[in-house]
Amino acid sequence: MERNTKLHGLVALFDTPDQIIHAAEKVSHSGYKDFDVHTPYPVHGMDDAMKLKPSKLGYVTLVFGLSGAAFALLLMWWTMVVDYPMNIGGKPFFSLPAFIPVTFELTVLFATLATVIGMITFFFRFPDNKHPLHDTPYMQAVSRDKYGVFIGASDPKFDVKEVRALFESLGGKKISEIMEIEKTWQDAFNPKFIGILVTTAILVSGGTYFALNKLLYITPFNWMEHQFRGVPQEKSDFFADSRMMREPVAGTVARGHMPYEFKDSVAQPADPVENPLVNSPEIFKLGQKKYLTFCSPCHGDYGDGDSRLNQQFPNPPSLHTTKLRDWKDGNIYHVITNGQNVMPSYSHQMTVKERWAVVSYIRALQKAKNASETEIEQFRKENTSNGN
Ligand code: HEC
Repeated sequence: MERNTKLHGLVALFDTPDQIIHAAEKVSHSGYKDFDVHTPYPVHGMDDAMKLKPSKLGYVTLVFGLSGAAFALLLMWWTMVVDYPMNIGGKPFFSLPAFIPVTFELTVLFATLATVIGMITFFFRFPDNKHPLHDTPYMQAVSRDKYGVFIGASDPKFDVKEVRALFESLGGKKISEIMEIEKTWQDAFNPKFIGILVTTAILVSGGTYFALNKLLYITPFNWMEHQFRGVPQEKSDFFADSRMMREPVAGTVARGHMPYEFKDSVAQPADPVENPLVNSPEIFKLGQKKYLTFCSPCHGDYGDGDSRLNQQFPNPPSLHTTKLRDWKDGNIYHVITNGQNVMPSYSHQMTVKERWAVVSYIRALQKAKNASETEIEQFRKENTSNGN
């Protein structure tokens, strides 16, 4: 490195950690501001001895972490509320609990990236890669087994003689002057520097690739891994159509399963299936439970079509219309199983028995809203004669 005649500062070496702590205390106590300490490893108590303030890097982390949180919330608000609002189970469009994971992730991402980039650019002054202390015998010594103190010539209190005397009084050895170096903007493009950066990048990414994509997949034993058998989704050399997964033989019916013959037909069947359940309190209970879980969010608790969704989804018709009361049980079952227009099928959420129980429950709701005078009389009589 080219050096000029301008003084950058004075350095001194010490032999033990105790000496360097003592030296740091004395130097900061004497009122020097532009000074630094170099040790081969972190020495306990050095922060206090140097009277170092906490790093300002934390503010960078805080500001960018908060920006990350704000960005995540704004992004989700824009996509989920403004640009493409979607009704998810009737929940509010701006639903904070669901947004927490993304907000957390972006907070951490912004904060960590900003911390690393901020540290390298603001605090290490990247791409400035030259420093007067580089390549000095002093730096070599403190990288190995010595402890060093540096006082900069830019310090207002700096005076070569005084600093030298201070170092000597502390027992400093090899006290020497460090001269300034010549810096140009081309330093950042120094081939050696670029070469080291590129080599590091290649080694790190190559190592990561090898570890995650190759090393992790080396099989220690493959005793039973490769067998002559059919694996789902794999190619087959055995069957003519090259597929390993086979369809059941045509007409096969699984044990305990009764196929619904009008499955996937949009239109209502002319001759709908009969309700196989016999009414009982258990069946109504089951039907009520399933109805309140799967149907009431749209149809309302009593089937009036007045649910809490309220215009967020096309309002369903009332289940108490004459049309629906005249329907056979099988027609309602058909709608639950296949869906109807915008209403989706509920065949995956409910078993066949549960679907029929819901039909029975809807029948009970209809009866409750349309009982005739004679039926009410009949009910009263039966219940008073029982003594209830
Ligand atoms: C996501 C909201 C929603 C849910 C949940 C829902 N439905 Fe519907 N349902 C509708 C809408 C909307 C219609 C009207 C569809 C149309 O335009 O034909 C409808 C229509 C119906 C009809 C036919 C009404 C008619 O007059 O044609 C029946 C019967 C019915 N639903 C029963 C049920 C049952 C039983 C459940 C529970 C298993 C259920 N629905 C769950 C929204 C829903």
